[in-house]
Order: sequence, then structure tokens, then C-alpha cells
Amino acid sequence: MTNCAGCHGFSMISIFGRYRNAYDHYGFASTSMPWEDAGALPLQDYIDIVAYMMRESGFPSGDVELRPIRDVLEQILPAQPGRR
Ligand code: HEC
Repeated sequence: MTNCAGCHGFSMISIFGRYRNAYDHYGFASTSMPWEDAGALPLQDYIDIVAYMMRESGFPSGDVELRPIRDVLEQILPAQPGRR
């Protein structure tokens, strides 16, 4: 709400499906957002935001907190029928 919703509102909740994996989503947000002050947040805040958007769009949450670790994030894929 504080850092992103001012411009995006709730319209981007389901955006995860546009990315190849969670790392792409996190990578874009953490290097390009917020628009006027890109990269201003701690990396863990970006991954928390990505995790929030994934959960709100129906992705199951795990037992451990998501961390900004590339190898892990690249294995988290949006559900895309007919594509792996
Ligand atoms: C000052 C306004 C502003 C704020 C604050 C902002 N954004 Fe953005 N965001 C934009 C604009 C403008 C675009 C379109 C950029 C483009 O098309 O290159 C965008 C695009 C995006 C996209 C890609 C959208 C798409 O359609 O693929 C993502 C993901 C995103 N923002 C995430 C975030 C996150 C996460 C935050 C909070 C850390 C944030 N934004 C804060 C203005 C903002």
C-alpha cells in the first residue's frame, strides 16, 4: 500500500502470470520500481510484495518466508496450462 498502490492500486495483483518466473517479476520490480525512485526499497521488501501479489492471485503460500535468492525464485513458475 505504501510504496506501490499509490500508482498501481490493486490492478496488478494478477500480474505474476506475465512473467516467466518469480525471479523475473522480482527482478523487474526491484530494479525499476517505484517509478520515480527505482530500487529505493530493501530487497526483502520487494520479495515480500511479489509474495503478496502471488498469494492474492491464488498461488499457494509456503512454510518459509520467500527470500530474494535467484536460484530459488527461478523455480517458481506461474500456472500456465500447456506450457512449462
Ligand atoms: C510513481 C508511480 C509508481 C509507483 C509508486 C510504482 N510504480 Fe510500478 N509502474 C509505474 C509505471 C508508470 C509503470 C509502467 C512502466 C513501463 O511500462 O515501463 C509501472 C510498471 C510496473 C510493473 C510492470 C507492469 C506490467 O504491466 O508488466 C510492475 C510489476 C510494477 N510496476 C511494480 C511496482 C511495485 C512492486 C511497486 C512498489 C515497490 C511500484 N511498481 C511502484 C509507476 C509506479
